[in-house]
Amino acid sequence: MQKKITIIGAGNVGATAAHWALARRLGDIVLLDVMEGIPQGKALDLWQAGPLDGFAGTVTGSNDYADTAGSDVVIITAGLARKPGMSRDDLLARNVAIVRSCAEEAVRHSPDCVMIVVTNPIDAMVHTAFKVSGLPKNRVIGMAGVLDSARYRTFLADALGVAPADVFALVMGIHGDKMLPLVRLANVAGVPITDLLDRETIDGIVRRTQMGGIEIVNHLKTGSAFYTPGLAAIEMAEAILTDSRRVMPCAAYLDGEFGISGYFLGVPVVLGSNGVERILEFELTEEERAALDESVAAVSRQMEATGL
Ligand code: 2OP
Repeated sequence: MQKKITIIGAGNVGATAAHWALARRLGDIVLLDVMEGIPQGKALDLWQAGPLDGFAGTVTGSNDYADTAGSDVVIITAGLARKPGMSRDDLLARNVAIVRSCAEEAVRHSPDCVMIVVTNPIDAMVHTAFKVSGLPKNRVIGMAGVLDSARYRTFLADALGVAPADVFALVMGIHGDKMLPLVRLANVAGVPITDLLDRETIDGIVRRTQMGGIEIVNHLKTGSAFYTPGLAAIEMAEAILTDSRRVMPCAAYLDGEFGISGYFLGVPVVLGSNGVERILEFELTEEERAALDESVAAVSRQMEATGL
């Protein structure tokens, strides 16, 4: 049977995610938004790409959650995006209310879905979706590490003059300035980057990765990144829908892993049809542990601010 994927929020991230979902043949797509006409118009436009692209599924635009019923994956992108001068935390209060209603409505119609949360601040929003949806911990996942790691890999590949697909690098922790791009484990087809790049270059790349979102906000001035965030969510959705067991850094609920309990935090996870199939735990150095603890402190402040 054809899989069904719902994308909530037909703004830049949502519409771009729908575009990538279509290009990757993930199944029937529903694009939902509270704004009348926007999801309908964008969905119709995308659907008409079928004869040119070879996509044979349906793309439905809707304002009605009934149309999302029976979705295998629900991606929440709805919410306000950052403008220059704003931190992701500045969005928190407004976006908690939005994500809360999206998650409650979505799960009512798709009780067996895996939910991917993209709305910022992601770590607080995934906590919100988890609390209000009642879904088990493995079925609610935040998209952040896939995006942050893609940025990290892009900058490393550029500095090294190698194909980006051959750079393996992991960003853990919060989706914010305190994120942790791991240097020790980053490699090019197995060769450690620390043997190929000097410390100053690596430090610059780490910093640029941590500030990757705001760099784009400062260029755009009217919003934040959407091409790679949209694809990052679809990369996760594809792994879930195809039960591929691909390993990606995602904001997953920690229940003792890495010595942390009760928080969503970016860690390497195995993705499959149940969502988070497993968290890949490994020994951290003292320096990495201290950096991860800073992420936990920042996430804990965000969680409290949601009031949930
Ligand atoms: C970013 O980092 C939107 O937070 C997202 O670009």
